[in-house]
Amino acid sequence: MPKSLHEQLNPPDPMRVIGLISGTSCDGVDAALCEIGGEGQGHVQIKLLDFVTEPYSKKIQQDVLKVSRGESRTEEVCRLNFRLGATFARAAMSVLMKAGLKPSDIHAVGSHGQTVAHLPPRFDSGIMATGISERIGSTLQLGEAAMIAEQLEVPVVSNFRTRDMAAGGQGAPLIPYIDYLLLTHPEHARLAVNIGGITNFTYLPAGAQEEEVLAFDTGPGNMLIDAMIQLMTLGKQGYDKDGELAAQGEVDGYILSELLKHEFLKRKPPKSTGREEFGLAYAKQLYEWGIKRAVKPKDTLRTVTDFTAIALSEAYKNWIEPKGRIGEIIVSGGGALNATLMARVKKEFGKVEFHLSDDFGLPVKAKEAIGFAVLARETLRGRPGNLRSATGAFGPRILGQITPA
Ligand SMILES: Nc1ncnc2c1ncn2[C@@H]1O[C@H](COP(=O)(O)OP(=O)(O)O)[C@@H](O)[C@H]1O
Ligand SMILES: [Mg+2]
Repeated sequence: MPKSLHEQLNPPDPMRVIGLISGTSCDGVDAALCEIGGEGQGHVQIKLLDFVTEPYSKKIQQDVLKVSRGESRTEEVCRLNFRLGATFARAAMSVLMKAGLKPSDIHAVGSHGQTVAHLPPRFDSGIMATGISERIGSTLQLGEAAMIAEQLEVPVVSNFRTRDMAAGGQGAPLIPYIDYLLLTHPEHARLAVNIGGITNFTYLPAGAQEEEVLAFDTGPGNMLIDAMIQLMTLGKQGYDKDGELAAQGEVDGYILSELLKHEFLKRKPPKSTGREEFGLAYAKQLYEWGIKRAVKPKDTLRTVTDFTAIALSEAYKNWIEPKGRIGEIIVSGGGALNATLMARVKKEFGKVEFHLSDDFGLPVKAKEAIGFAVLARETLRGRPGNLRSATGAFGPRILGQITPA
């Protein structure tokens, strides 16, 4: 006997939710199985029961990148949406299996999906239906929620970004709300940094109120490093495991100083970036430039690794430090596992106390997936999940769409 819709939408606490996301790195679906209770800043409690990453096949990865570049036919996009839905469902099943649980043991899934296009208002020229010449933003995450609901027979919350955008926001970033809930310290300011494909951070002043939170992209994350190593190894290696190859290289001062002139670093926040600015095309230019200047490929790799760390600290020094120094920096995302990158980040931040998000019960690779489990619960409880100060929306909104079990 399936649960009534009312029961599905009102699960008890602690709520068991699986959060699913694949980020800009396109490496695979992160699945975090969480038990969540409590409400409001400092009160939400999370127990991570288990975590897996379901890697993308080469084919899926190539298809996602192709759609993202705008080179696919409509049918290909259509097919990919459902195939990704199946991949997301598989990731949810494998985290359940790993935990020794079954779908009926959980209450909901929160699925971010895979972003293939993200066009905040200022990039688009649509005219609002009202005739007011206001620009409409748009965003598209693939990974059909119906496929997940069908496989697991639990309600699925998906498409978190759309409502914020419909309300005039950038639809991103959304994780700052999670940082605000879980990581605000009453007495000192913190910086929560996530190094995914792109690096972004959330600045949380001491005892932060919602409107005091600042969040924006600081530049490349693993994106340049991944692209560089793929060029170096002719595609054999997808990323610089633990930063081992970069550790063998030396920084080329000239290339580094040129990289630091990148226009994005000077742009005023709020700002966001992506593959258009720091993707394969940019990496190829750099790689060829390195070869022309007779710089060894591993030195170029080391240089982009250091550039990634410095772009982050520049963003802090330019836009945050003038407001007051932070007490701690808390790093998450796959980039936290790159020891060479982390060493440079620590050096840049000097005396600031350094933590991985693991120290706060949020393992670096799981943090964003946990975030979408928390956001799904906020939606089911009828609470907004966006921060106006981070997305620029007209106001707080309950995020997402719900597909019943
Ligand atoms: N052990 C590791 N050593 C170095 N880099 C790693 C390691 N594990 C993951 N990464 C990097 O993290 C990236 C994935 O990070 P993730 O946080 O999932 O980013 P995104 O949210 O963009 O998908 C990989 O592409 C890789 O570059
Ligand atoms: Mg990822």
